[in-house]
Amino acid sequence: MIDFKEKIGEIINQNVEQISKEEVLELLEIPPSYDMGDYAMPCFKMAKIFRKSPNLIAEDIVNMIGENKYFEKIENKGAYVNFFVNKELFSETVLKEVYEKENKYGATNVGKNRNVIVEFSSPNIAKPFHIGHIRSTVIGHSIYKIYDFLGFNTIAINHLGDYGTQFGKLIVAYKAWGDRKVIESNPIPELLKLYIKFHEEVEKKPELDDKAREWFLKLEGEDPEAKELWQWIRDVSLKEFNRVYEMLNIKFDSLAGESFYSDKMPRVIDIMNEKGILEDSQGARIVDLESYGMPPALVQKRDGSTLYITRDVAAALYRKETYDFYKNIYVVGSQQILHFQQWMKMVELMGFDWAKDCVHVPFGMVSLEEGTMSTRKGRVVFLEDVLNKAVDKTREIIEQKNPNLENKEEVAKQIGIGAIVFQELSNSRIKDYTFSWDKTLAFEGETGPYVQYTHARANSILKKANVDVTDDIDYSLLLNEEAVNVVRLLHDFKQVVIDAMEKYEPAIITRHIVDIAQAFNRFYHDCPILVDDENVKKARLLLVKSTRDVLKTGLSLISVEAPEKM
Ligand code: ARG
Repeated sequence: MIDFKEKIGEIINQNVEQISKEEVLELLEIPPSYDMGDYAMPCFKMAKIFRKSPNLIAEDIVNMIGENKYFEKIENKGAYVNFFVNKELFSETVLKEVYEKENKYGATNVGKNRNVIVEFSSPNIAKPFHIGHIRSTVIGHSIYKIYDFLGFNTIAINHLGDYGTQFGKLIVAYKAWGDRKVIESNPIPELLKLYIKFHEEVEKKPELDDKAREWFLKLEGEDPEAKELWQWIRDVSLKEFNRVYEMLNIKFDSLAGESFYSDKMPRVIDIMNEKGILEDSQGARIVDLESYGMPPALVQKRDGSTLYITRDVAAALYRKETYDFYKNIYVVGSQQILHFQQWMKMVELMGFDWAKDCVHVPFGMVSLEEGTMSTRKGRVVFLEDVLNKAVDKTREIIEQKNPNLENKEEVAKQIGIGAIVFQELSNSRIKDYTFSWDKTLAFEGETGPYVQYTHARANSILKKANVDVTDDIDYSLLLNEEAVNVVRLLHDFKQVVIDAMEKYEPAIITRHIVDIAQAFNRFYHDCPILVDDENVKKARLLLVKSTRDVLKTGLSLISVEAPEKM
């Protein structure tokens, strides 16, 4: 398979021996538009070697290279040497590779089986799995899939918020006002009600707070009643969350949440003591982080109970020992940036050089159209409702437009849920956004259903053609601009996946598959596929199949299903 970048390196090195192939590869750029070439080499850095102006160097290089079969044109513009690939060879190279690898096209083995942990979702037990959690869940799941695709050995962890003082509050509230049957019939909203009631009552009776603290200490001390209640609350909550995970096709390798680390604290405290980083502050224990520009981290309260941040330190130690990770990724909102900086610094101060392999991948906040969501006030949008509404709406559209579709229910789920996930992954993760039902349920434009539809369309063309598509075609028949544009985007897909992995940014893939779908639809519009000329038909069909396969791979990397028909 021809690597055109490598070729440029070889050609230049053969003709201009002062420049090594590696140097060329370092220098090569992708010009901002194709009429400036497919690759460009800037010559500014060579001025010293050749004692000439960069423009003259570029001109000399072009003259020295002369004609070359891999490039239809090599020209200099200012200080740049621009390379235009031989389109026929280019299409042949790209389409042969897609044909051979099918849904593995783009699965470059950069991971080499190294272990990567992706922690995502991590909702809090007894609290709603609300629209804010969709971000961690969906972004994290996609990052997990991208790493997996690129040959890493990936471990998906759900660091459940199943521990902490709020359980003391819940137990107090349950004992005072709760009813087991009522809760079991509708767990999260009922538990939420109890939680809200606690906060209302505590305004009048502050002693409730002391009681809650007591119950949490009991839980830490393995008191049987506290433990039983906690376990029950955790079980009913998880059952709820699992429904959503099932809808989204998500499976975790580990559900080790905060409670899992409750007995692993003494060791953390010991190591911190050994390293002399722990200080006493009115009976509580803190780590002073002032010299790193951060406020002190409270790791143990006066009553001996530990905190969220301490559990994160313990979890990181445990993960290193259990999984010997190459990278330990946390997909958690940007409100927690300081939290992650603090505990990662503490791990470093504890003497663990792998602290640098822990990565916080933050994302922006979601607000509701008017006002903000807050568990205490109870104004929340449940993720499950969002998904269900999207499926309902899709079902209606299918009934109107395509009532005879097979597997209607299945397809409605794939499209409705896919639309939500796709939209979530369309924008850079760090951007804040406002949730609105209307926007969420608008399926027009550059949306998931659009890409899914393009995939299904390609699929139905192939079905209709009813011939074996092969890569043994006349590639000179794919030289028109519409076809070449599609091929270029298919070619770029490989690098796009790697970029998305390195930047922890699924949106890079989402946007690229929208580009592919648009380019394909232009091609399809201008170039009828099932024509009489057998050679033209064969050539175009290969492009259709390649597009279908890459779209499917792209969708699967952002965890959106690709229905065959819709
Ligand atoms: N449960 C937390 C929350 O909902 C998120 C946990 C993030 N992960 C972590 N290792 N701290 O805010």
